Amino acid sequence: YDHLAPKLRGKKEGTFAYYTVRDRWPKIVTGLVDQLAQKRASLIEKYGSEVESDIAAILEVFSKLRYEIMTDKPLCNLMDTQLDSEMWRNLLSDMRTAAMPDEVEDLTFFKGPWLFVECWLYRFIWSTFAKTIRLSEYDYFQDSKRKNFLDHLPQIEESAAFINKISAKDAPVHELFGINTILKMSLWGNRADMSLTGGDDHTLAMSSMSASSKLADFVLIDDVNDMIVKVLGPLKINANHETNRRIDIILDNSGVELTGDLIVAEFFISRGFADKVVIHGKAIPWFVSDVTKPDLDWTIEQLKNGENIGEESRALGEKLEKRMKSGQIVYQDHLFWISPHAYYAMEKEARDLYDDLKNSSLIIFKGDLNYRKLVGDRDWDLDTSFKTACRGFAPCPFMALRTLKAETVAGLSEESIAILLEKFEEDNTWMTSGEYAVCQLGGI
Ligand code: F6P
Ligand code: MG
Repeated sequence: YDHLAPKLRGKKEGTFAYYTVRDRWPKIVTGLVDQLAQKRASLIEKYGSEVESDIAAILEVFSKLRYEIMTDKPLCNLMDTQLDSEMWRNLLSDMRTAAMPDEVEDLTFFKGPWLFVECWLYRFIWSTFAKTIRLSEYDYFQDSKRKNFLDHLPQIEESAAFINKISAKDAPVHELFGINTILKMSLWGNRADMSLTGGDDHTLAMSSMSASSKLADFVLIDDVNDMIVKVLGPLKINANHETNRRIDIILDNSGVELTGDLIVAEFFISRGFADKVVIHGKAIPWFVSDVTKPDLDWTIEQLKNGENIGEESRALGEKLEKRMKSGQIVYQDHLFWISPHAYYAMEKEARDLYDDLKNSSLIIFKGDLNYRKLVGDRDWDLDTSFKTACRGFAPCPFMALRTLKAETVAGLSEESIAILLEKFEEDNTWMTSGEYAVCQLGGI
């Protein structure tokens, strides 16, 4: 890995990173300020009038934060005492003293490495709430996550009907068709994301089963069949000898995407590809829409008992609840997933997690952020191999299911590159529109 491409940074004008730092981050912070103002009365009702001082403290920090983003000030320290505070303190100090060879530039909002600064931002926002007395557990992104689920009830019912049909033991299902359809549904669920617009518009309903086959041309790399032959096939053959076959899903967003991912888990278990599926979420509200434990609990409860929920979704909810209770589906939220580290560093930075993942047969990484961390958020040449970009990360075979929302990708074929060049010429919008996707196999 002698030649590393440069990291993406917000200072490069015209890029999505630049637009994110300039427009999207201030908008997200403003959205939080507006939310607190709008909810003042209900928060007082819930927590008592003392909550006003908490709200005032948060508003003060956020108006300063917004100003500092917009004027490209250096990142400040995270002055808190959480489990990961020391890691952040050390990293910030390493980066400021340029102990890391490729971080010689200033650590400011625009000039710092985009991924690092973005993780710092969500960690800082959380810290601001965590320091208050009454709002330390408050999930300020909860409303938009729940709305995403409620806005997609028809799609959820449709995919629930599909899994209910094919998970029956004697269901006459063509397995390859089943796997492909389910993984593509889970993939396109990643498009219905609200972080891209700061949480105010998530009408991209391209997550239904029927959309999956229509969108085949937009999948730039499709290693699903390869993965079935190399990973899932052997797993099924081993079903009689092994009783501890495990698959992991590193979740991304709540709402329709999470439902799709739970359907993937249900599929692997019910069709005999795994005895256990471990799903990994975030320990704190993260990148607007990412799944936390309360989101997971709420989603399963909604599937089971929500208003306006269809019969198929209800049946799915009940099945999922049983799987969770029996330990066939297990939830975890290791702090590494809310660190700014690229995944090649997991072996060193989170040895316990790395060793644990070695027990898995397959990891599915969902979404854009996971992909950015797999390839280190670097400006790779498009034809750099995925393996090179992942820099040796391989606790076990893994598959990235990702719609492209940030300007980093590796492993494209000459043919795809030629098609994209012809269609878009110099214009890079295909890399950030969420219209294109990759299903890439790594770790073998
Ligand atoms: O701010 C940009 C970003 O971090 C991109 O990675 C992506 O556009 C979005 O936020 C999160 O996407 P996802 O939920 O798919 O990881
Ligand atoms: Mg996300």
